[in-house]
Amino acid sequence: MQEVAKYIIKVNAEVKDGQIVPEIPFDEVMRLVNEPNIVIIKTGLPEAALSAVIEQTRQWAAQTPLAEGPDTFDNNQHKQRLHIAKIQKAPQLFHDHTFDAILDLEAPFKETLLNVFDPVRGFWNDMTGNNEAFGIRRGQPYFHPQVTHYPLGGSFFGRHWHPLNPQKVGMILALNQYGKDYTSGGTGYVINDHIVETEGYQDMGDMILFRYDLPHWVSPSSFADRFSWEDPAGRWVAILPFYDPWGTPADNEEPQGWKKQITQAKEVAV
Ligand SMILES: [Fe+2]
Repeated sequence: MQEVAKYIIKVNAEVKDGQIVPEIPFDEVMRLVNEPNIVIIKTGLPEAALSAVIEQTRQWAAQTPLAEGPDTFDNNQHKQRLHIAKIQKAPQLFHDHTFDAILDLEAPFKETLLNVFDPVRGFWNDMTGNNEAFGIRRGQPYFHPQVTHYPLGGSFFGRHWHPLNPQKVGMILALNQYGKDYTSGGTGYVINDHIVETEGYQDMGDMILFRYDLPHWVSPSSFADRFSWEDPAGRWVAILPFYDPWGTPADNEEPQGWKKQITQAKEVAV
């Protein structure tokens, strides 16, 4: 475990029997996240498994028409996002692939995704004290596995936040390598009025953990490159949101919940 910058802590891990096992106990990981810090887990997931997710997601997307219209949260789809979120007014430009029905995919693509998403799901369960499986469950929170591509030339995601629960900890797994596959763009956070940029700190296979109610964003890929939806160059990440899409959306109001909650916790402690 090492603090590599203010509020950024790297934690080593290894994959044992398909599970990501960190060098420190899960409740210690959770404590560091809640403090709050940005915790970067060096998962040890094999690079071949991560590259296969990108490669086969691209093959699947080439055969699957782009989704249009409102999201239904009950299928496998991909969409070129270019809009401003209604409630939080966060602008965004990226290409996401959402696998809510991951278990309905055909082999070998399903196995390729599960090779990576199953260890991430297990990690989240162990960290948060849950025991959740994949699958769509109306009226309840469930997993929304997502592979996101941030193309070169100006993709980004503006400052936004989420309700703390039921996710508690957001996870962003790097599927390719900063400095090689892309040279700009990364996730930023606000912690105690301090801007924390993780660009350059996250290597392929590293999984960022963050308290889910921290304001965060994705800094843009360089405008010096030409933009193209088709060019696979750029940053690729896997995320595993857990929420009820028909539940209450995040409040449109900052300040962020954690700041109030930390203040309240301190007052109670005194
Ligand atoms: Fe987010």
